[in-house]
Amino acid sequence: MRADRVADAFRRLFGDAPDGVWAAPGRVNLIGEHTDYNDGFALPMALPQSTLLAARRRTDGRLRLHSAQGDGRITELPVASLAPGSVKGWAGYPAGVVWALAEAGHPVAGADLHFDSTVPTGAGLSSSAALECAVAVAYDELYGLRLSGAALARIAQRAENAFVGVPCGIMDQMASVCCTAGSALHLDARSPEHHRHVPFDLRGQGLRLLVIDTRVAHDLGDGAYAALRQGCERAAALLGLPALRDLPPAELPRALHALPAELAPLVRHVVTENARVAEAVSRLREGNAAALGPILTSGHASLRDDYRVSCPETDLAVTAALDAGALGARMTGGGFGGSVIALVRAGREDVVGDRVTAAFAAAGHRAPRILTATPAAGARRLTPPPGSERQP
Ligand code: GLA
Repeated sequence: MRADRVADAFRRLFGDAPDGVWAAPGRVNLIGEHTDYNDGFALPMALPQSTLLAARRRTDGRLRLHSAQGDGRITELPVASLAPGSVKGWAGYPAGVVWALAEAGHPVAGADLHFDSTVPTGAGLSSSAALECAVAVAYDELYGLRLSGAALARIAQRAENAFVGVPCGIMDQMASVCCTAGSALHLDARSPEHHRHVPFDLRGQGLRLLVIDTRVAHDLGDGAYAALRQGCERAAALLGLPALRDLPPAELPRALHALPAELAPLVRHVVTENARVAEAVSRLREGNAAALGPILTSGHASLRDDYRVSCPETDLAVTAALDAGALGARMTGGGFGGSVIALVRAGREDVVGDRVTAAFAAAGHRAPRILTATPAAGARRLTPPPGSERQP
């Protein structure tokens, strides 16, 4: 079992057994992109790929971090000296969560943490959120905090915003913490506590979801994401609204007319995208997952033409998947590379995957990585809680 292997590695590294092993998944977003920081809606699902964390509480205020995907070194940091921007590289994400918990007044201190992740990095599948959320759920238990899933997601988002310096919304962290197996998560980013689980029975409906990693490195830290977010905030202010979520679709034409030319397409995307989330949720609740197809494809067109966060590789993956008979396809996540999802009939996975791979080869792009995703569980403890062992 993977949890046992991670616990064994922890023992070799830190010389003692961990207090437990936790897992937090990556995610794909089905629909509702660039809506979360506009107080809007999204519909992510957790991936089976996850970050495992073997952790042990320490009483001396030291945080020791090691990753199976890192350079082999153990990073050691005194919790009391953690400050935004002070920890570079992957260790900034877990350290940021410990900092954010302490900053929020929670009585946390040190720990030994060993990570082992199967979430591809740089693929727009929220490997950073998985890292953060694994720490959030582990600390919640190790320090007896008893925070809600939404509160833990907020802590993880705060770590990324304020400690690492990436101005992301809350979708990825909510997906990683709060998703359940077999369901997508209907998120209202204005009140994450009120999320709903929407059954997404791919297999039962003869469907498969392909995740196509274009292998164009996706990076939210490069300023483009922040600029889009600012554009949306400026548009909302010009319209006299708290957030773009508050613009009713019926008022969109008037708003588009009133806004500067560079902001209008952003607003059109956000308003129509929120409507697409509502429609997708209705179709899923009716048990008609195949009807998501056209919603995904129009979502991609909106991201490509209005929000302008697609790239030649994501556009090509979408076109090739549709040409090969996918019911719908779109880029997922922040964009500027990353991954594409394609909804296909069971049995068509190889045809669609092969067509995308061939199109990439013909265009001279690196071969994409393709996997089939099922809606998986959110962050959780994998090892039995202390005291649960059967007494002789
Ligand atoms: C990234 C961010 C999320 C969200 C998406 C776009 O994944 O981390 O908060 O804004 O981009 O929908």
